[in-house]
Amino acid sequence: MTDKYAVLGNPIAHSKSPMIHTEFAKQTNQDMQYEAILSPLDSFADTVRRLKAEGYKGLNVTVPFKFEAYNLASQHKPSAMNAEAANTLMLDGADIVADNTDGAGLVTDIQQNFAVALQGKRVLMIGAGGAAQGVALDIAKNAPAIFVVVNRSMDKVSAMQKKIAVIKDYPVTAITATRFESLDGQNFDVVINATSTGLTDSALPIPDSIFSKSTLAYDMMYGRETPFMQQARATGAQVADGLGMLVEQAAEAFYCWRGVRPDTQTVMQQMRAL
Ligand code: ATR
Repeated sequence: MTDKYAVLGNPIAHSKSPMIHTEFAKQTNQDMQYEAILSPLDSFADTVRRLKAEGYKGLNVTVPFKFEAYNLASQHKPSAMNAEAANTLMLDGADIVADNTDGAGLVTDIQQNFAVALQGKRVLMIGAGGAAQGVALDIAKNAPAIFVVVNRSMDKVSAMQKKIAVIKDYPVTAITATRFESLDGQNFDVVINATSTGLTDSALPIPDSIFSKSTLAYDMMYGRETPFMQQARATGAQVADGLGMLVEQAAEAFYCWRGVRPDTQTVMQQMRAL
């Protein structure tokens, strides 16, 4: 019997996940189908329970349901626990198990596809909202020399620092909180834009000094050249958008469900060619 999977969101029509997972399944000969399902805003939990009862084995979850998905689950993997948000649910046992593969996807894209090891590097993350929280633990786990988080609201950075500080299972790099005004004259090996400013084409109050020719400037958004990417490019930095992260987080979810690692390069090339 063909195993069923889906991505739930609202809106959902734009989602690239069905295309990515269908390609992964073809490559790895998995007998599965994957579709996009629009969940009503006020009945996400009922939608998940109905799909579980119908035999769906796993779900991806996107905006605006990642926090609800976390709260609905009865078991949580560490990345989901740290983010208090889930993008992947496993439904094939008695429990609903939540994971968050966004951070693993980002780190794999940076370390493998861009060949920049985070260990020992100076890393700056801009933003401390939901998207940033989803990836903070995975960055901290990879032992950068320093991990600076800059955000307008300092409360969100403090909350992020506290969560990372209590992790005992493995060593993590502590987060250094910084205000935008303090970035002047500082330089980083990797700069990650995890703010939502790309959506509105707003520029960030960041000085050119944070970039150099050897910096990887990574925008977690994909599909457009953001002001962050334009600024970084003008300084000669290497620039990346979030397409690789999208495909790698999907591969990580696919691995959680099926235990097989698909080839992400082919899918990335196909998507770049669209
Ligand atoms: P998401 O789920 O996309 O992360 P979010 O949780 O609303 O959305 O977080 C948005 C992030 O972008 C926050 O870090 C926010 O900064 P504040 O916490 O200070 O609001 C950041 N952000 C949005 N617009 C910004 C702007 N014009 N300049 C700087 N940061 C901005």
